[in-house]
Amino acid sequence: MLGGVCASAACSSEGGDGAGQGTGGVAAGNVSAVPVGHLAFVSGASAILGRDAGGLYAMSAICTHQSCDMSERGAIASGVVSCACHGSKFSATGEVTNGPASSALRHFKVELAADGSITIQKGSAVDAATRAAVPG
Ligand code: FES
Repeated sequence: MLGGVCASAACSSEGGDGAGQGTGGVAAGNVSAVPVGHLAFVSGASAILGRDAGGLYAMSAICTHQSCDMSERGAIASGVVSCACHGSKFSATGEVTNGPASSALRHFKVELAADGSITIQKGSAVDAATRAAVPG
């Protein structure tokens, strides 16, 4: 069990993609378990990890409508991220495909270590086209 106790008010950040994660890196498993086509919530991180032909990418799991954490109140199925709060849907790369949300999900920098471990840098926003290349 990770961090059950919030030690400061910063743990419940508003507007929050942070939700206790601060700006540090979030471990997101090993690339060996993340095939092309992968799209899933990262447990406990309010984030989504994806992999397409270009490599790895990460997005916020916080709905851009009214900030529901879709990893707790939502789902991912068939490449669609759905918010259970008011029905917004996002594509596999975070574009809005169904309102009421009107803004795309934020993307975060992904780092891939030599041993294959993946770290999501939630403090580093990147363009939606940014990928962490996976060595062939
Ligand atoms: S908070 Fe997600 S649809 Fe409203």
